[in-house]
Amino acid sequence: MAKLTIPDMINLKGQRPISWMTAYDFVQGQLVAAAGIDVILVGDSLGMTTLGFNTTLPVTIDHMVHHSAAVRRGAPDTLMIVDLPFLTYTEPGQALRNAGRVMQETLADGVKLEGGQAILPVVDALIKESIPVIGHLGLTPQSVHRMGGYKVQARSAEAIKVLVDDSRQLTEHGVSAIVLEGIPDRVAQYVTKEISVPTVGIGAGAGCDGQVLVFHDCLGLSSGYPKFARPFEDLRSRIIDGLSEYRVQVEARTFPNDQESYHVTDHEWAEFLSLVESTSP
Ligand code: KIV
Repeated sequence: MAKLTIPDMINLKGQRPISWMTAYDFVQGQLVAAAGIDVILVGDSLGMTTLGFNTTLPVTIDHMVHHSAAVRRGAPDTLMIVDLPFLTYTEPGQALRNAGRVMQETLADGVKLEGGQAILPVVDALIKESIPVIGHLGLTPQSVHRMGGYKVQARSAEAIKVLVDDSRQLTEHGVSAIVLEGIPDRVAQYVTKEISVPTVGIGAGAGCDGQVLVFHDCLGLSSGYPKFARPFEDLRSRIIDGLSEYRVQVEARTFPNDQESYHVTDHEWAEFLSLVESTSP
């Protein structure tokens, strides 16, 4: 299958639902690509899923570049978007330098930024340099402290109006898609009808143009799940079972067996023993 481009992805709006999935390393990139997922997102959820932080705030541009380059090596032919992490796009010059690193060092197809009207100057600067930008509205994890936790957003009429205005503005300024996270389904459906680029939902109901899930949540690798995440596999317990069985077999000396071992011929072994004997003091 030919690699999907940013314009191809935009054109899928209204044609068919678009599948997005996060990935954070080489093997995950390979797996997501092999499953035929449309778009890989190297999210700054990297901080929680892979680096063991409690929030996305400690994630740096170096972390994102390091992991995204590995994902790209695993998925050279899949459209790949990379998150710019916390405080790496506070003004256009800084955003351009960091997005430039992502594009050049990871071969990403675009970057994702959290925020509405406040980030429009940054969006303009990146798009002017032909760096595709994906927006992210609603529950924006980089603002966890302002939100007072990971809470569903856009529940009041006023907040819905702000979100709808933000999505219109981002679209007018040229974003290629908007991730809508943690908002009521009706709001996401409304935005989806209002804007000309795809909406990608996570905890935003079924009415978006596409859906995105965190790799670990999708496959049952996480230890807890938000309400919106459906584990389509139970890999955490299957992996623990596999690792426990390995430990049991090591302890019982049933691993490795004869077929899993390398051998030397009787003749070479006898020679070796006589060599040792003849050279020992
Ligand atoms: O960081 C991330 O994985 C994300 C998705 C949850 C949309 O931003």
